[in-house]
Amino acid sequence: MPHDTLTPADDSRRQFCAAACRLASVATLGPLLGACGGGSSSPTAPSTGTPLSTVAGSVSGRTVTVTIDGASPLGAVGGLAQVRTAAGVFLVSRTAEDTFTALTATCTHEACEITGFSGARFVCPCHGSQFSAGGAVLNGPATRALPTFATAFSGGVLTIAI
Ligand code: FES
Repeated sequence: MPHDTLTPADDSRRQFCAAACRLASVATLGPLLGACGGGSSSPTAPSTGTPLSTVAGSVSGRTVTVTIDGASPLGAVGGLAQVRTAAGVFLVSRTAEDTFTALTATCTHEACEITGFSGARFVCPCHGSQFSAGGAVLNGPATRALPTFATAFSGGVLTIAI
């Protein structure tokens, strides 16, 4: 028999192998394709929230100062902002006319910088942890509150003791 002639047994073995490979591919890729399909069972990415406005703060010794006027994102009660300084980044909320809270912007989960908000919550972009204006964990995976800093407000200037 010539070398390249197929017998019926060769042909059925080839068909069997082709079918087995198709089944193996479907079995392997099926779950992956299902996860990418956006169906109701697929995992959802954590929300990153709406990006926070940023405000510059200056540092002198252990004090950050931030000037707040009517145009500032912190100009009205309920305002939220990231305060960026040479000493670090802070999350600031205006909780009343003369009252603010200041938190570190470094997430207590894996140290990502918190850059977003949703409603009155700060939202970490990495894994979706959410924190209250007072720093409490409202949604994990973070389990520890954000450290807070004492604040004072006078004459349109917010001071944060760091
Ligand atoms: S680092 Fe913030 S949720 Fe993971």
